[in-house]
Amino acid sequence: MASFLLVCSLILMMGSLFLGSAAGEPIYSLCNKKTNYTSNSTYQANLGRLISSLSSSAPATGFANDTAGEVPDRVYGLAICRGDVAASRCRDCLAGVARDAAAGCPGNKGATIFYEFCHLRYSGQNFFGSSTGTEISMWNTGNVSDVPTFDRLLGELLDNLTIRASSSERRFATGVVDFTSFQKIYALVQCTRDLAPETCNTCLMDEISYIPQCCEAKKGARVIGGSCYLRYEVAPFFNPSAAADPPAPPPPPSVPANMSPPPVGTTAAAGKS
Ligand SMILES: *[C@@H]1O[C@H](CO)[C@@H](O)[C@H](O)[C@H]1NC(C)=O
Ligand SMILES: *[C@@H]1O[C@H](CO)[C@@H](O)[C@H](O)[C@H]1NC(C)=O
Ligand SMILES: *[C@@H]1O[C@H](CO)[C@@H](O)[C@H](O)[C@H]1NC(C)=O
Ligand SMILES: *[C@@H]1O[C@H](CO)[C@@H](O)[C@H](O)[C@H]1NC(C)=O
Ligand SMILES: *[C@@H]1O[C@H](CO)[C@@H](O)[C@H](O)[C@H]1NC(C)=O
Repeated sequence: MASFLLVCSLILMMGSLFLGSAAGEPIYSLCNKKTNYTSNSTYQANLGRLISSLSSSAPATGFANDTAGEVPDRVYGLAICRGDVAASRCRDCLAGVARDAAAGCPGNKGATIFYEFCHLRYSGQNFFGSSTGTEISMWNTGNVSDVPTFDRLLGELLDNLTIRASSSERRFATGVVDFTSFQKIYALVQCTRDLAPETCNTCLMDEISYIPQCCEAKKGARVIGGSCYLRYEVAPFFNPSAAADPPAPPPPPSVPANMSPPPVGTTAAAGKS
């Protein structure tokens, strides 16, 4: 993966994008600067407690959402690890995120701190159950050869995975499809588990529809938001055994399946928070 040059773009100006790195992993902090807390406030204390409890409870199952304190100083937060990541790596990742939270967005009441294998999101507003849609995209600068075939297969694969993830307990799915006789497309999709199946579906569809804008013809890309995530590459990047989910039941009829190919020119996420 080190050989992949990644480009990152912030498409939702909810705050500023902070780029840094810690423990050798990339981190992207989306800081919501619209509301701040003051030093030594009740909010700050609640936030500190919440971050430490989320980062210790999430590794067991890969996800936790919780609140700390009472309105008006209540903090809402979630912590999540990528679905194929073992508990020990999840714990390390969230420890890094917890450390970086204060430094990444000092004084801001809300933020999302993204690492490669986990992310942490918190806010003074209740955001549980709602979709952020697309917030960040990154792409591999390498181009694919046969774009129409690639787009068709990738669209099908992502549609299939979206249906599987939305209806699965862990809101997570991975898959592989043959692109050429010697090249495959590997993809992973995931939602935070506070999302209902339909909302997970909506979140991932928003990200899929952003691919033509950010990442057309690219060999790999990530489209990332505080409540869902997708990534695809022409090289393996996830752990297939850990990623194996129990066989999914047939998708519920309420889940739309007509998501392919992603339309060009849809609004990415402007105006969403
Ligand atoms: C919050 O703090 C940031 C600095 O981190 C500042 O840029 C921003 O203007 C502040 N927002 C408000 C609403 O005071
Ligand atoms: C916050 O508390 C720390 C440690 O008790 C103290 O050093 C600092 O001056 C306080 N800051 C403010 C703004 O009150
Ligand atoms: C986590 O999110 C779910 C779904 O929105 C919500 O019903 C639940 O109360 C949240 N859990 C906590 C501990 O706040
Ligand atoms: C991929 O295609 C773009 C646009 O056609 C071009 O600017 C870029 O140099 C290509 N990248 C590589 C690695 O060939
Ligand atoms: C998508 O799912 C359908 C139905 O299960 C299957 O026939 C098709 O091969 C899948 N396509 C990809 C690219 O995974």
